[in-house]
Amino acid sequence: MKENIAEGEIQLSKIIAGVMNWGVWGADLNTTSMAALIDSCLELGVSTFDHADIYGGYTTEEAFGKAFKASGVQREKIELISKFGIVYPTDNSKVKAYNTTSEYIIQQVEQSLKNLQCDYLDVLLLHRPSPIMDARQIADTVDHLKESGKIKAFGVSNFTATQMELLSRHTPLCTNQVEASLLHLDPYLDGTFDCCQKLNIHPLIWSPLAGAILFTTSNKSSFLEQRDRILTVCNTYGWTLDQAAYLFLLHHPFRLFPITGSSKLNRIKLAVDCLNQSISNDQFFELWSASTGVKVP
Ligand SMILES: NC(=O)c1ccc[n+]([C@@H]2O[C@H](COP(=O)([O-])OP(=O)(O)OC[C@H]3O[C@@H](n4cnc5c(N)ncnc54)[C@H](OP(=O)(O)O)[C@@H]3O)[C@@H](O)[C@H]2O)c1
Repeated sequence: MKENIAEGEIQLSKIIAGVMNWGVWGADLNTTSMAALIDSCLELGVSTFDHADIYGGYTTEEAFGKAFKASGVQREKIELISKFGIVYPTDNSKVKAYNTTSEYIIQQVEQSLKNLQCDYLDVLLLHRPSPIMDARQIADTVDHLKESGKIKAFGVSNFTATQMELLSRHTPLCTNQVEASLLHLDPYLDGTFDCCQKLNIHPLIWSPLAGAILFTTSNKSSFLEQRDRILTVCNTYGWTLDQAAYLFLLHHPFRLFPITGSSKLNRIKLAVDCLNQSISNDQFFELWSASTGVKVP
């Protein structure tokens, strides 16, 4: 159920549990419910959990850390991803900003480890590219964190192909975590997935269900017509919208790792069940054309 995300790099579960909505930004699960969900995810084979320092306004890692401790699950049974780089306004600063300085990276990793109640992260990601990042400084800091055993692997998130190439010249990247879904085809076309294949790093996919927009029925949604075309294809093959969304992503021959956003076990299970199903090439392009509204040229 686990696979390498890059050559010689660690293995992650093929479906990853995104924790962003488990805390106060979403379901606000208490410690007992979160511990039970961690256990149930593991039973499904979902052993990788995706965090960021900022989730829940800097509170969700701590909530997860308490739940993980309560669950009694051994640290080696799971893989933890966390991210740094986005800075929310605080008493000292009124501006939402990015920070990729060495001092800040180390501070945030220490904080994530403390909150998650563990002594290493399996994967550390730079959450977003900063317009003023110093690739060499980031790489040196990452190398230091690896040497000290605080992180096992380093990757990026929301990086363009050029930004990936730049940073990978200084330190090996293990992945690029990007948005992709039936409603967001950009990385298929803008060079992101091409560059991942070139660097031999498998992308992790956020918002595989377009952050629930796929299920929107409000007349105000600009996605309504697009969603209806997708629904027509789903009805032809007896798929649910979420099933079609996962099967579409999993069809890519250069394996993508979807990150589920739900805090409901049955919805995480649906994603896992899709690993045992597949769609044909024609069905992929039916969904693609339903999304774009035109046949491929
Ligand atoms: N790197 C980045 O910049 C970045 C950005 C955003 C997210 N992420 C990561 O990616 C993960 C997933 O992102 P996401 O939350 O946007 O994922 P998503 O799976 O596209 O969307 C999750 C939302 O869809 C809802 N949903 C799922 N199945 C549904 C159904 N059948 N009917 C109606 N609603 C349904 C969920 O509600 P319920 O909870 O009620 O099921 C939840 O609100 C996050 O947890 C986070 O770890 C990373």
